[in-house]
Order: sequence, then C-alpha cells, then structure tokens
Amino acid sequence: MTQQYDTSRTWQWNLNHAPSVASAIDQAAVPGTWSWCGIRVNSPLGIPAGPLLDSRWLLHYASLGFDILVYKTVRSTARECYPLPNLVPVRTGSLSAAGEKLPASEQMNGSWAVSFGMPSQSPDVWKQDVQFAREHLPDGKALVVSVVGTQDETVTDPDASLQQLADDFALCAKWAVDNGAHGVEANFSCPNVSTADGQLYQQPETAGIVAERIRNSIGDAPLVLKIGRVATAEDAAELQKHVAPFVNGLAMTNSIAAKVIANDGQLMFGGQPRGICGDATRAASVAQTKMCRQALSDADQKLDLIGVGGISTADHVREYLGAGATSVALATAAMVNPDVGLQIRRQL
Ligand SMILES: Cc1cc2nc3c(=O)[nH]c(=O)nc-3n(C[C@H](O)[C@H](O)[C@H](O)COP(=O)(O)O)c2cc1C
Repeated sequence: MTQQYDTSRTWQWNLNHAPSVASAIDQAAVPGTWSWCGIRVNSPLGIPAGPLLDSRWLLHYASLGFDILVYKTVRSTARECYPLPNLVPVRTGSLSAAGEKLPASEQMNGSWAVSFGMPSQSPDVWKQDVQFAREHLPDGKALVVSVVGTQDETVTDPDASLQQLADDFALCAKWAVDNGAHGVEANFSCPNVSTADGQLYQQPETAGIVAERIRNSIGDAPLVLKIGRVATAEDAAELQKHVAPFVNGLAMTNSIAAKVIANDGQLMFGGQPRGICGDATRAASVAQTKMCRQALSDADQKLDLIGVGGISTADHVREYLGAGATSVALATAAMVNPDVGLQIRRQL
C-alpha cells in the first residue's frame, strides 16, 4: 500500500516516519502545455502547502504523479505543532463563508478541520532539506517553498510591527530561493497579528507592502500569494491592484473557517475556529477563481491562478481550469488517497 500521513499520530511522528525516497512510478502523460509562473511542468497537478512535511514527503508525491510540489510552510524560527487532534473530519455540505458550527464526524466524508498552527523545523534544517529536494526532483516538476512571517510579539508599535513582519517574510523567501526553490509561495491567509484584525490578504494595502518587500528580496524568482476566501469582485480587484505589481500568481482558497462541535456537544479547539479543507470548499473556491480571473482580465493584469480546495477527480480539475486556473493543487484528497494523482492523470 502506498504510504500516507497517519492522522492519529503527531506531525513530528509523521515527519520522523516520512517515506523513503521513491523510485519513479510510471505516470501517464497529461496532454497540453502546463506551467507554474512561467516554469514548464509536466501537468497542472500540484500538492499545496501542508502535506509535504519535508523533502522525503515531497519526493514521495513527486513520484505519485504531482508536478508542482509546495514544500510545507516554513518560518524563520522553529515552531511546535498544535496538539492532537490535528485533523478532525466534519459533517457539512458546501461552505461559502466563515462562521458556521459543524459537527465532528467519526467518518471522513471528504472534509475535515485542520489544526496544525503552521509548525516549522528550524531554518538550519529546512534550508538543507530544500537543497536535497531540489537536487533529487526530476525534470518537469517545480519546487515551491511556502513561507510565512513570524511576528515578534515584543514589537507593539503597529508600523514597526508591520515592518518586522514584512522583513521576516522576505528573509524566509530569500532563504528558500537561495537554497534551490524554483519559486516561493507566501502564506497571506494567516492571522495578521500586527493589526489583530483578520488576515493579511484581507488588508490589500498591507498585503501590497509585504509583497513588495518579498519581491525585493528574491529578484526575479516567481512569487505566489496564498489567499483565503474573497467573496466580492470589488474585494478581489482591490487586492489584485495592490499586489499584482509584485507577484506572479495567487493560490486560492486556503480553507473556510468554522467552529467544530464534538460528540459531547462541546466546542473543540477551545472554541476557536479552524480551517475546513476538502470537498466542502470546492464550489466557493471555483467561483472565487472565476471571479478573480474576471477581475484580472478587467484590469488587464496577467497572473497565474492556482486552484485549491476540494479537488479529488479529473472533473474537478477541469472545473478549476475552466474557471481560469492555470494549475491546481490537492491536499485533502491526496492525503486520504495518495494514488489520486496517478488516477486523475489517466483521465485527463
Ligand atoms: C494537513 C494540512 C496542512 C496544511 N498546512 C498548510 C500550511 O502550512 N500552509 C498553507 O498555506 N496551507 C496549509 N494547508 C491548506 C492547504 O494548502 C489547502 O489550501 C487546503 O487544504 C485546501 O485544499 P484541499 O481541499 O485539497 O485540502 C494545509 C492543509 C492540510 C490538509
């Protein structure tokens, strides 16, 4: 059986028990011409930030038919993972906005709450590991490193705090590129602690400042921003106006936040919402991709759009490409069924 992430064990355990580097499995060619931010790749199929904990997980999925491999979000300092459970299946239909309360489920029905807290190995470890991934990645595949800035809680002045966060994003991005990443994905769908009111992608001007800082640190290397749910064309246009000069693409949608109710009726995770990933987010994310493509076209801007959220079949891939995505990525489905990429390739 193909090795997969063990959801009953910790993130560290899954890191310690990563698959050994696999030899290539016969992968059906995908007709068409595909790229990630100008880098030619063999198919539009990727794994987004999360499931590829290190180079061994990354090369494992590269051997399983994925061509755009996003190395899990890393930081400028080591960070522990949240305690178990990290992945809790939920019962839900399609979600279009944050704020729901969803019952936990024993069974995986396609969607789950994700609770990791963006852990990171120390830079000394991940930098070397990124080098290893690049050295062993076959041609026709792109190595992208996801980065996030870490707030220095001792800086209280809002402007100084923003500068510190922007510098930290830029530092991680530079380290990623210096150690062999083809490109960088910056996670802007993370809480913006500097202003404590939402996430970076929801604050277009601030997002533009951080994106420019990252751009200045990585030269011409491709840069993608990972964003969350954007509901209106006006919000999409405003964000794109501020970030488009500095980035090559946008990856959407990270997840849709909801609270989770345990079997005993109590709220899980101390009552805090968690990102719901998987099936439930696909309809909203496809609609968002279409809306963003239209907003780009209206503004005569050319960016890659990377469709993420709820993909598990070739039809889902076609849905995103039809909505204007340049490529796609699968996290939940690829963790539940690691062979899904090989299966989708045969149908594309
Ligand atoms: C186990 C797991 C860990 C994740 N970790 C990250 C992360 O570190 N950074 C990030 O930007 N997104 C992270 N995500 C979100 C995914 O990149 C993706 O946006 C989300 O899972 C939606 O895709 P899916 O419906 O195919 O799962 C994670 C998702 C999962 C399932």
